[in-house]
Amino acid sequence: MQIVRTPAALTAAVEAWRRDGKRVAFVPTMGALHAGHLALVAEGLARADIVTASIFVNPRQFAPGEDLSRYPRDEAGDAAKLAAAGCSLLYAPDLAAMYPSGFASFVRVGGLPDVLCGAVRPGHFDGVATVVTKLLAAARADFAIFGEKDWQQLAIVKRMAADLDLGTEIIGAPIVRDADGLALSSRNLYLAPADRARALALPKALVDARTQLHTGEPLAAVLAEGSLALARAGFARVDYFELVDGETLATLAAPAPGARLMAAGVVGKTRLIDNMEV
Ligand code: PAF
Repeated sequence: MQIVRTPAALTAAVEAWRRDGKRVAFVPTMGALHAGHLALVAEGLARADIVTASIFVNPRQFAPGEDLSRYPRDEAGDAAKLAAAGCSLLYAPDLAAMYPSGFASFVRVGGLPDVLCGAVRPGHFDGVATVVTKLLAAARADFAIFGEKDWQQLAIVKRMAADLDLGTEIIGAPIVRDADGLALSSRNLYLAPADRARALALPKALVDARTQLHTGEPLAAVLAEGSLALARAGFARVDYFELVDGETLATLAAPAPGARLMAAGVVGKTRLIDNMEV
């Protein structure tokens, strides 16, 4: 597996494959790779001849006081996992390659970033939109694969790629869960054993809410019970427990086709997100 560190080197490698008639997929990540990321690589291999990936811990999507400085980093370990999964190229730029001095642009998608996680993390999705635009512009891929665990991010990136004619098809790949139901996340590494046990309330509350909606219980009561279940399990904070339209992220007053249950909260010091189709 080749490792490149500048946008120009990434573009040159991908253009060479494309000139040979190869279809290319791209998997953007912040590293600390787990089986969920490797499933994105597998999804890329199912759709394209070549899979490329990036690792860049993007400071612009962390607010002051968030976990930027302690975000787990292990480029050598990540590179070995990507190579074993069949990835052909890793783009791992440093800060100066991504944001050279004088960098002055940012990308903001309207509306979608204002709700759910965006309401709790102002500016977060502007940082994501900016870096993903840069990554997609340099990666020139036919497909870019994002995990459905960050459903809001996926909805924003899809909107942005369509609005800006970015020329890359955005694909969502299903959440990968541990055997006990917890969605895989690089941030699960922060969880002490007692907090990890508490965190299981998150997927359980979503499954319970989905079951209650299927049996016709009133939405408001189901959502209130979901939030309460997290608080009872020892979540330090529940940011939201909502039913939204999967594309527009608009709050729904009743289950509808494409509806998604979305939840986020803090266990110990770790903020976790999860979501489920209804
Ligand atoms: O989901 C992530 O890991 C990041 O938000 C992304 C898409 C790589 C942008 O930094």
